[in-house]
Amino acid sequence: MIILGINAFHADASAAIFVDGKLIAAIEEERFRRVKHWAGFPELAIQFCVQEAGISYQDINYFAIGRDTKAKFFKKLLYVAKNPFGNLSAIKDRLVNHKKVATIEKQLASLSGLKESDFNTKVINVEHHRSHLASAFFASPFKKAACLSIDGSGDFSTTMTAVGNDNNIEVLKSVDFPHSLGIFYTAFTQLLGFPNYGDEYKVMGMAPYGEPKYLEKLNDVIHLTDDGLFKLNLKYFRKGTSGVINYGEDHIPIVAPMFSNYSATQFGNPRKKDEPLLQYHKDMAASVQRMTELVIFHILNHLHKKTGLDAVCIAGGVAQNSVANGKITSNTPFKHVYIPSAGHDAGISFGAALYVQHQLEKLERQKAIYTAYTGSHFDNDEIIEMLTSKGIAFARLQDEALYEEVTNCLINGGVVGWMMGKAEFGPRALGGRSIIADPRRTDAKELLNAKIKRRESFRPFAPSILKEYVKEYFEIDEPVPFMEKVFPIKKEKQSIIPAVTHVDGTGRLQSVDKEVSPKYYNLIDAFRKKTGVPILLNTSFNENEPIVNRPEEALNCFLRTQMDMLVMENIIVKRN
Ligand SMILES: [Fe+2]
Repeated sequence: MIILGINAFHADASAAIFVDGKLIAAIEEERFRRVKHWAGFPELAIQFCVQEAGISYQDINYFAIGRDTKAKFFKKLLYVAKNPFGNLSAIKDRLVNHKKVATIEKQLASLSGLKESDFNTKVINVEHHRSHLASAFFASPFKKAACLSIDGSGDFSTTMTAVGNDNNIEVLKSVDFPHSLGIFYTAFTQLLGFPNYGDEYKVMGMAPYGEPKYLEKLNDVIHLTDDGLFKLNLKYFRKGTSGVINYGEDHIPIVAPMFSNYSATQFGNPRKKDEPLLQYHKDMAASVQRMTELVIFHILNHLHKKTGLDAVCIAGGVAQNSVANGKITSNTPFKHVYIPSAGHDAGISFGAALYVQHQLEKLERQKAIYTAYTGSHFDNDEIIEMLTSKGIAFARLQDEALYEEVTNCLINGGVVGWMMGKAEFGPRALGGRSIIADPRRTDAKELLNAKIKRRESFRPFAPSILKEYVKEYFEIDEPVPFMEKVFPIKKEKQSIIPAVTHVDGTGRLQSVDKEVSPKYYNLIDAFRKKTGVPILLNTSFNENEPIVNRPEEALNCFLRTQMDMLVMENIIVKRN
């Protein structure tokens, strides 16, 4: 059975393909288009998936589209009727969206060269949050688990709880738009001066520089309810029903301001781009982060009570909050947490396909998915051809010589672009498309920001650590394959790895498994043998663009910045 999952006309458009239960490929369209969060029809991602599976379009049994415009249709109508502001634009938005989803079949037909009528029995629409839930539970190692999907909004819901049992997910409760933890976080992200789609992680990075002094005030903005969910106090939020996120002709998602004038009178006008970050902003960030954690723990505590299970699977935009994720086992009775590599909306394609595979087709559950390496890949010959055509000098080394050369460069203060094997699915670089540095350097953050990243000074860099050493360096020992959790670093270790220790003594780790990432593992192990430290600083291989995908993009990034060395498979390019 072949299932192609699609996230189309939505932020982080993507495609994923499963053949006889096995994940073959999954990739975001932005990697090909070179536009962050690209939100149109993921034609190139679909072509890539079909090619990787070595099949033709006729072989595909299901197109699983992670959106159902008919979901909660009457609730949507009722909401529009009750909220007169923005009615016209709301209706227009929904019509446009409905039309776009309807054209997915047309687009697939033209892409494949098949007649549209041939798709009639093959297209399944899977509601947004069910896609998120499936992306977590069906990829997890658990036979039974509590499940939570939580984001800004999708198909008119913002939160959904469920219980997963073998190849079935039973939905328990949901929260409807506009009551949304994602919208709460986004509104304050905007007030703090970060207006772009996906900027929420900046508030999370800034929070440890402040104190949660305004938690009391936020109690009036979001209320925990007795049913284990929450409600927003809507006077703090923009009224109206038009789309929270709009997409222009360029397919870049634009977030509408989510806060109300009342909110600005209570919390101050939005900080302008060039205005300084004051202690007030940092304290607000800390308060918003803390409140978000409290809401998540409240939902999970209730979910635990209801299900009595000790494992939980989480997805949705809010599941990208790695700081909250890292605190779940110490603040709720849950003992095991699984979050997929693409917990955000790119994972909708992957989840919709899994939903069809298990929930509808009742295929047997497969091994848990601990790899994010499902994207583009290039061999040594292709890389050599590209470099030769551009007249770039290079060396080709065997694996052991390569690790030797790279670790020497790192120890001598070098910053290395590392492109190895398949690209990662999801927002994190995990040793497939990473920039790496020595975590022991006190000046690494400044060095990286000066040489390559030019990003806000409050944002931390992350550690990739050999799995076996997590308990030696961190207070919590859980698998973190996708950098989806932040843990406290042991006090005595913090000064050993200052470059990856955040101001509050935490680190957003990736626990590197030899089975999953053999070459990245061996590189870190080579570094360990020389330095005694089983850790590398790992940041995504890009410079204000989507993570590099092709060797040409890696080379361009290397040439544009002041990286010291570029590694692509067994090929090394050094700066002269
Ligand atoms: Fe979502």
